[in-house]
Amino acid sequence: MGASSSTPLRECWPSIPANRIWKLYSESINSPQKFWGKQAREHLSWYRDFGIVHSGSFANEDNAWFLGGKLNASFNCVDRHAFEDPDKVALIYEADEAGSGRTLTYGDLLREVCKLSHVLKGMGVQKGDIVAVYMPMIPEAVIALLACSRIGAVHSVIFAGFSADSVRDRVFDAKCKVVLTVDESKRGGKTIGIKTVIDKAIAQCPTVSNVLVFKRTGAEVPWVSGRDRWWHEELRKWPGYIPPEEMDSEDPLFLLYTSGSTGKPKGVVHSTGGYLVGAASTGKYVFDIHDGDRFFCGGDVGWITGHTYVVYAPLLLGISTVIFEGTPVHPTPSRYWDIIEKHQVTQFYVAPTALRLLKRYGSEHVTGARSHLRVLGSVGEPIAPDVWKWYFETVGKTEAHIVDTYWQTETGCHAITPLAGITPMKPGSASLPFFGIDPVILDPVSGAEVDGNNIEGVLAFKQPWPSMARTVWGAHERYMDTYLKPFDGYYYTGDGASRDDDGFFWIRGRMDDIINVSGHRLSTAEIEAALIEHPTVSEAAVVATPDEITGQSSTAFLTLKDGSEVFETLHAELVLQVRNTIGPFAAPKGIYVVPDLPKTRSGKIMRRILRKIMAGEVDQLGDISTLSDPSAVGKIIEAVKAAA
Ligand code: WTA
Repeated sequence: MGASSSTPLRECWPSIPANRIWKLYSESINSPQKFWGKQAREHLSWYRDFGIVHSGSFANEDNAWFLGGKLNASFNCVDRHAFEDPDKVALIYEADEAGSGRTLTYGDLLREVCKLSHVLKGMGVQKGDIVAVYMPMIPEAVIALLACSRIGAVHSVIFAGFSADSVRDRVFDAKCKVVLTVDESKRGGKTIGIKTVIDKAIAQCPTVSNVLVFKRTGAEVPWVSGRDRWWHEELRKWPGYIPPEEMDSEDPLFLLYTSGSTGKPKGVVHSTGGYLVGAASTGKYVFDIHDGDRFFCGGDVGWITGHTYVVYAPLLLGISTVIFEGTPVHPTPSRYWDIIEKHQVTQFYVAPTALRLLKRYGSEHVTGARSHLRVLGSVGEPIAPDVWKWYFETVGKTEAHIVDTYWQTETGCHAITPLAGITPMKPGSASLPFFGIDPVILDPVSGAEVDGNNIEGVLAFKQPWPSMARTVWGAHERYMDTYLKPFDGYYYTGDGASRDDDGFFWIRGRMDDIINVSGHRLSTAEIEAALIEHPTVSEAAVVATPDEITGQSSTAFLTLKDGSEVFETLHAELVLQVRNTIGPFAAPKGIYVVPDLPKTRSGKIMRRILRKIMAGEVDQLGDISTLSDPSAVGKIIEAVKAAA
């Protein structure tokens, strides 16, 4: 199997180091066993070396990497660096309150992780058990992940913006025994009652026997005696060392629930060896991480970006990682730049949504010394050329390399991305595949590979890579149906993409019903399901609408049950319904109550028509005469116009 012959990757990398990279890339595709075997031995310490680098295929759904290998994630992230230099800074915590925070050395981190590991074991957590983590961006969140992996437990982080209902569904699905959380969190100057959300969620989860609560604000919180324990009190009881558990390379490291195209989120499962190799190798090559670097990823640990690039990649490579609890505009829109200057950050990584917001505030807020910044990363959504230019010129002063990294919860780490200092930059293009990724563009209808350049279609990967998700928790058929079955023999990304004349890839956005609001991945089906729970709502159709700041926002079209009328507080109630069912970040921006939705005669809602209406392209609706009631369209157009 080779890199798509039509993609002249060699020409894309013209300089001398690039030729070396081309050689490496070719090896990663043509001899993946050799390439990944070397990467795995170079970046990780194994208790027992693996015998076979890779076995299995997409078709047989049995991909496995580094077979026979034994390792521990926490040992690789903490112990080996702590033994070498216990005083090296591991975590730099910047609290929501500007000027406050603390640093933890690798020595500190090892002790904290070990103490928490003891506590978890004391609560009955065993190898293979799933532990839920519902925490804000504080060092204890990182400690939580590492303590789970140390004892062979599987972490399932739930973004702290999810509502009690969402937490309940995730904890219930994974049958978690223990939940790690805080009393309250602080973000952008606001205080959020985290423990009360957990109490509500856990009330319906019989598997949870213990909740461990870290005291972040010290507020009075409701307490279930016997079940709830204070973090500081429990950790005090245990010594600062516990040996790590020897895990099999294919043992699951974590679950991360993510939105699919149905209403029910999927628990994406990542394995230990493969995921860690992906995290370390992308950290090294994409971000050019070197010893002594200080890495600042603004992503939240509740999403994959936080897992791989706040926690695993920087710690595997033994550098310092910034944990930022706040928002980019609190107390001022210079907060990121203050942190970057204060900690002499070398790599900075955020979603374009934050950049759009900061650009709008004005370049005068981009202050402080930034000459130490070598790499500026972008993630999670397309970055528009004007925002890219602002990032490059205003933030990076044309001296830092911009890496527009395309990947997914399911890929585990970067898939299509520039390599810092090597790949030529094109604003708006995620550029070229990372090692081991063999991307192809498929015709969405026939599934045939579209050869040549200057072409468009759906993006798929032709061969397995170490950090690919192995399954969906308890629902392997969903894994197959979503990723491996749509196009036989390929991993289907769900994204549309094009390849330009130079062989560079441009991501065009999702082909399914997943939307991306401020870098938060949501499914329109999830929001629809939430809206339908309101007693007056009969049917709901949610579509993505382009948004200047959040990238996309959601717009809901609803019909009401017979006899129901629009009342004054309906809009507010519907927003609350979504906030309570999913979380505040999922609330639709626009809500239209209409007499009917555009449907085919067989009853299928034509969301495409709604998207066109929202885009103002009412002259491009296509043939609507086949709808069960074509007049519904005119009424919707009127409703949208009236609200404008
Ligand atoms: C989108 C986030 C354009 C894409 C790491 C993908 C991007 C989805 C980019 C995954 C990028 C991610 N350019 N689009 N650089 N990176 N996406 O699972 O649609 O939260 O399928 O992972 O985000 O979102 P997820």
